[in-house]
Amino acid sequence: MLCFVVLSVYQVGVDSGVESVQLICKTTVCLSKDAKVEWKDMNNRKVHVYENGSDQPEEQDDKYKNRTKMKRNLLEPGDLSLTLKYPTDGDNSTYTCTVYRGEENILMEKQVELKVKVPQVEVDSGVESVQLPLNTTLHLPEDAKVEWKDYRKVHVYENGSDQPEEQHQSYRDRTKMNEDLLKTGDLSLTLKYPTDGDNSTYTCTVYSREGNILLKKQVELKVRVPQVEVDSGVESVQLPLKTTLHLPEDAKVEWRDNNTKVHVYENGSDQPEEQNQVYRDRTKMNEDLLKTGDLSLTLKYPTDGDNWTYTCTVYSREGNILLKKQVELKVRDCQVEVKEGVESVQLPFKTTQNLPEDVEVVWVRYEPEYRKVHVYKNGSDQPGEQEAVYRDRTKMNEDLLKTGDLSLTLKHPTERDSGKYECEVRRNGRFRYKTVQLKIKGLFVYVCVCVCMYVCMCVCLTALCLLCRESSGPGSNRGHQEQKQLH
Ligand SMILES: *[C@@H]1O[C@H](CO)[C@@H](O)[C@H](O)[C@H]1NC(C)=O
Ligand SMILES: *[C@@H]1O[C@H](CO)[C@@H](O)[C@H](O)[C@H]1NC(C)=O
Ligand SMILES: *[C@@H]1O[C@H](CO)[C@@H](O)[C@H](O)[C@H]1NC(C)=O
Ligand SMILES: *[C@@H]1O[C@H](CO)[C@@H](O)[C@H](O)[C@H]1NC(C)=O
Ligand SMILES: *[C@@H]1O[C@H](CO)[C@@H](O)[C@H](O)[C@H]1NC(C)=O
Ligand SMILES: *[C@@H]1O[C@H](CO)[C@@H](O)[C@H](O)[C@H]1NC(C)=O
Ligand SMILES: *[C@@H]1O[C@H](CO)[C@@H](O)[C@H](O)[C@H]1NC(C)=O
Ligand SMILES: *[C@@H]1O[C@H](CO)[C@@H](O)[C@H](O)[C@H]1NC(C)=O
Ligand SMILES: *[C@@H]1O[C@H](CO)[C@@H](O)[C@H](O)[C@H]1NC(C)=O
Ligand SMILES: *[C@@H]1O[C@H](CO)[C@@H](O)[C@H](O)[C@H]1NC(C)=O
Repeated sequence: MLCFVVLSVYQVGVDSGVESVQLICKTTVCLSKDAKVEWKDMNNRKVHVYENGSDQPEEQDDKYKNRTKMKRNLLEPGDLSLTLKYPTDGDNSTYTCTVYRGEENILMEKQVELKVKVPQVEVDSGVESVQLPLNTTLHLPEDAKVEWKDYRKVHVYENGSDQPEEQHQSYRDRTKMNEDLLKTGDLSLTLKYPTDGDNSTYTCTVYSREGNILLKKQVELKVRVPQVEVDSGVESVQLPLKTTLHLPEDAKVEWRDNNTKVHVYENGSDQPEEQNQVYRDRTKMNEDLLKTGDLSLTLKYPTDGDNWTYTCTVYSREGNILLKKQVELKVRDCQVEVKEGVESVQLPFKTTQNLPEDVEVVWVRYEPEYRKVHVYKNGSDQPGEQEAVYRDRTKMNEDLLKTGDLSLTLKHPTERDSGKYECEVRRNGRFRYKTVQLKIKGLFVYVCVCVCMYVCMCVCLTALCLLCRESSGPGSNRGHQEQKQLH
């Protein structure tokens, strides 16, 4: 029998939702009785094994159990193609079909690349709801179970009704499926108040009463969030949010960063005691916000510590969500650049006035290596806590807590002072912080440039002189040389 190896890659693309896909592998070779056929994926997992004249399901990886099928009668020349049921984008891979004779004797090898396309839905943050569309023409039995999942359970429909206690809490009260979904085949899922935390690939699976899969289809959701970008050092930034919804007078408005409360408006007024100390005295919302629908938030003295996606949620008196919208804030890093040799350099940090008396202000350099630069606490500088290199070289303003000007003056900076600095204001944890990138351009460069320029000038002048002399008469020059030789 002929022994040869072919290596070629076929590509197969299918849409998510198809019942199955065929990974084609054909041969003109006759396989002997002891031949073994093995399908593997890119991660070397066994997808399907055929050996000693029959399938060997116990050898295949769990991921592929009950999902694969090969044609019978492999011993005739022809078709080693593999049928893979209910493909999802998790099946994107390059599959290798290998035919062995005996133990290690490879007769043939072919590769197939599978790509499963998933439809995308993109919406803007702030919409009331988004639909993940899914229609099927399959006839579904009345006792079928429908399950929408990302990596959590999103919505479960079983025994003829929704099963809210099965869904993950982050989807509670936010999902809806149509009535009569099994009859109409419209299995679309409606998701209310989507945020970018809902960016995910959602998989809908329909099971028969016996637990067999009848349908599997995916939809990818992307929620766009508007971005605001400002320079560090601006006085304030606005996170814009306008709504045309009619909001009741007793609505509650809450702005949050990823984890904590930024600003709360309730019972007709701001509730500063509810906000996190990081945002104390730094936030402002418009008057009459519920009437005008302008729920924009003004954030004062933003720093890179405020890089977050902010979420504004409006609740009715009963606690129901009326609106949810996000804005992403990016504050560019503060960069300071001076030449070596300047008297001093200032690392700027201005924040709110009248900081609490018990805060501690610490300037550190954390790149290239960690160093304590300046410590202010208990109402005064603490030179004992700073590192020796900075002794007598740092200065902060008087009354810094009152003025909120926490800038640091660093005297006689040299190139070695370059790096990333951070000012941290502490009070039971981080109260506020700001990063400053300091770059001191070394004198060395300037010395080099000066020396180069000097050398250039000298060379030019010399050349010019020679040229002058030469043009003033080659004869005289030669004569000079002859004179020399004569000596
Ligand atoms: C196939 O048959 C050979 C020889 O009879 C045996 O050694 C091998 O274990 C069998 N493989 C499987 C998977 O049954
Ligand atoms: C495969 O099907 C069998 C029988 O229908 C079932 O017992 C088993 O749990 C299934 N395995 C997987 C991984 O779905
Ligand atoms: C699978 O392949 C499709 C088609 O190329 C691609 O759009 C998708 O992002 C891939 N999915 C994964 C999870 O790799
Ligand atoms: C699904 O089918 C229903 C009823 O036929 C139709 O109203 C709806 O627009 C369809 N949805 C999609 C996403 O095709
Ligand atoms: C659905 O009905 C079956 C049989 O009546 C039962 O075993 C199962 O627990 C029910 N499922 C739910 C979620 O109620
Ligand atoms: C969600 O998807 C949008 C749109 O592609 C993207 O701009 C955003 O960064 C994503 N957000 C997250 C948290 O993944
Ligand atoms: C936001 O918070 C979640 C959970 O509290 C956390 O897993 C995630 O990493 C946070 N994101 C950022 C950008 O810090
Ligand atoms: C707002 O008013 C309600 C009812 O009068 C009260 O229960 C709630 O505590 C108040 N909230 C704040 C923050 O004052
Ligand atoms: C904040 O975002 C800006 C702009 O994208 C980026 O340059 C900076 O490194 C970010 N800072 C932090 C601490 O993530
Ligand atoms: C703070 O200062 C007061 C008076 O200046 C002093 O009595 C106290 O010990 C200091 N506390 C600390 C922690 O240094």
